[in-house]
Amino acid sequence: MKPGVFLTRALPTPVMHRLKTLFDLKYNLYDRPLTKPELMRGMRGRPALISMLSDPIDAEVIASNSRLKVIANYAVGYNNIDLKTAAALGIIVTNTPEVLTEATADLTWSLILSLARRVVEGDRLTRTGRWTGWNPTQLLGMNVSGKTLGIIGMGRIGQAVAQRAVGFGMRLIYHNRRRLPHRVEKRFRASYRPLPRLLAAADILSLHVPLTRETRHLIDRRAFNGMKRTALLINTARGPVVDEKALVRALKKGEIAGAGLDVFEEEPTVQKGLLTLPNVVLLPHLGSATVETRIRMGWMVIENIQAVLKGKPAPNAIR
Ligand code: DGY
Repeated sequence: MKPGVFLTRALPTPVMHRLKTLFDLKYNLYDRPLTKPELMRGMRGRPALISMLSDPIDAEVIASNSRLKVIANYAVGYNNIDLKTAAALGIIVTNTPEVLTEATADLTWSLILSLARRVVEGDRLTRTGRWTGWNPTQLLGMNVSGKTLGIIGMGRIGQAVAQRAVGFGMRLIYHNRRRLPHRVEKRFRASYRPLPRLLAAADILSLHVPLTRETRHLIDRRAFNGMKRTALLINTARGPVVDEKALVRALKKGEIAGAGLDVFEEEPTVQKGLLTLPNVVLLPHLGSATVETRIRMGWMVIENIQAVLKGKPAPNAIR
């Protein structure tokens, strides 16, 4: 008999085929996140749950299924899961690191370039028929080459963003829990800075930290006060790393020049103040959204579930 798996959102077709071949798969047939009661009903009695970053997997959800052995999160971030409860109940939690690093770094750069070169504003002007011809002072942006990129969080994704910055001829400074080994710093021509000094020096600030108690509202009113008035903020990490209300205030007061956001504090809700500002680019959490990446994430989820159900160590268990 095939083991029972519950999947909270339909995944790309090749992944769905494989899941159906390997497991007794039950999944969410709606094109929306499940409610908590729907989720608990769906996963009942099944040893494996495939969850999305948008599913809060709290203590009540976890404890509702006494047969649960593995929660395979279809994301690299896992702040949506109550790890303590899972550990206490002996349930393995896994994620999908590495396979989405390049896609997320590319998306980060899409935001950097869109914002610095006012791509979205230009697109709007052109498609609404308001463009009256080439103009020497129209939609002037900012060069990225020669500027300073400040990265907070130099893990895999932070480093992939840094790698691209080398090609753009940027100066790189970073802040991280632990300073990187000298050879890694050398590879990116990166220098470590304490947070206040990094905030003060960055022309573009890009966030790549996980959401934890320590990083929640890391970029708050005080942080904005310490940044350059010409600085751009990019967030492809997790929304709550930035105090969104403070961000709206900083943008309105001209404390920073713009923001590119792929993530929000209360997804899918976006602070109203952000929607009307021209100097922001807003994306619907697209970091890993490429065909190749989302398929590879699917293979990873499958490998993790198979390992746990066979009593082997999961390759991507979160410890
Ligand atoms: C993740 O997987 O955690 C990222 O947010 C994808 O965009």
